[in-house]
Amino acid sequence: MSENYSVGIDPSVLAKEPDEKWTDKYPDIDESRVSYESMTSPEFYELEREAVFRRSWLYAGRAEWVDRPGQFFTKEYEVLRNSIIVVHGHDGNVRAFYNVCPHRGNKLVWKDEPGEPIEGVCNRFYCKYHGLGYGTDGKLEVLTDRESWFGDQGTELALAEIPLASWNGFLFVNMNPGGPEQTLREFLGDYYWEGFGWPFEKLTERFVARGVTQCNWKGLMDAFNEIYHGVYVHKEAFPYLQKMDFDALQAMHVKTMALVGQHGFYISPRNPQGLFVTDIERISQCTGTGPQYPAAEDLTRLPPAANPIHTDDWGTSSHFIFPNIQIQFYYPNWYLVYQYWPLAYNRMRFEIDCHYQPSRNFSELISHYGHVATFWDAALQDINNLEATQKGLEMGVFQNWPLTDQELMIRGFHRQIYHHVTRYREERNLDGAAIGPERH
Ligand code: FES
Ligand SMILES: [Fe+2]
Repeated sequence: MSENYSVGIDPSVLAKEPDEKWTDKYPDIDESRVSYESMTSPEFYELEREAVFRRSWLYAGRAEWVDRPGQFFTKEYEVLRNSIIVVHGHDGNVRAFYNVCPHRGNKLVWKDEPGEPIEGVCNRFYCKYHGLGYGTDGKLEVLTDRESWFGDQGTELALAEIPLASWNGFLFVNMNPGGPEQTLREFLGDYYWEGFGWPFEKLTERFVARGVTQCNWKGLMDAFNEIYHGVYVHKEAFPYLQKMDFDALQAMHVKTMALVGQHGFYISPRNPQGLFVTDIERISQCTGTGPQYPAAEDLTRLPPAANPIHTDDWGTSSHFIFPNIQIQFYYPNWYLVYQYWPLAYNRMRFEIDCHYQPSRNFSELISHYGHVATFWDAALQDINNLEATQKGLEMGVFQNWPLTDQELMIRGFHRQIYHHVTRYREERNLDGAAIGPERH
């Protein structure tokens, strides 16, 4: 085994003895029960919007989506009550702007439904209200009713630009009113900044699932931050789980996990009993974990930060990037991005983007379709289950919840959320009951 990748983290956290606990590797984290007030309180949600989402770098999309001059996409951030445009300018620069016309505040770029994101290619953006036109650099280019304006008020109009930065083609924006508190590099930390190089730009075939569900956004992050619910929740989607014996199911523990600053990851093992495929999977050359044909370019070798222990039989490598996305690799040459966007304290929008290398033929395309159908089926099981979790939490019968060692990612994630909200409250001298990551 070659040397572990451990830029910016203590390498000793990546391995443990059988009688050790992962959680013990973090001296400032204990095993106390965790308050889930953050998932049931409307007041907490209002604080979280400002303390977490207004200040963090937020995922917008991939650089390939704005590959050439004039190409753009919009992104809705309901949690901040705004929308942005990301556009590749005709001057060659990729920029982000608030999606609002500076004349009388009409939302600038939208098609049939003002709340729906769109993408396209254009020379300039025309406002639907009074016809003003803005270049892809945000400057006013077309002024209508020219004689009626006072002084330079019309000609000086320009779109409001937002800080945008790229990390391996993942585009992030920061909407903190005073500007970003950290660069994107500082926000991600050295571990991820330096160790996540991979040909993401080659996986341009994308399948998108979007939906709204009645649970707190953190609930879905929690579900995907541990693996052991899988054998109970996903028995239907993954029939091989029904064939595994109890001991094999119980042995499905992570190979490694680590908290990395505000972020973190786990690596799950490959199914120890080999692949079980259903008839439809056999026909379409896919399984629940991905396509099974030899890929055009073999990308089973992960970026160093995604497989720091250099294990060959990784099944999933799952990375939560604070506050609300996960990037996951599954061993057969594809990756996905989960996004969890809050809409209210008990309502969220999820987005799942599955990325593949472009199909070379119809068989490969069918394989991708077959795979996303299976995969989304499993995701819907998680999401459906979470509506039940939200209802359970809102009963208020239990205030604090025990988390196991397999739930370290969840513990670390909620801790960060409480940390940011507490800091925000303290800065503003806001009253309110004492909150903390752990209460007894
Ligand atoms: S609001 Fe956009 S042109 Fe008037
Ligand atoms: Fe799941």
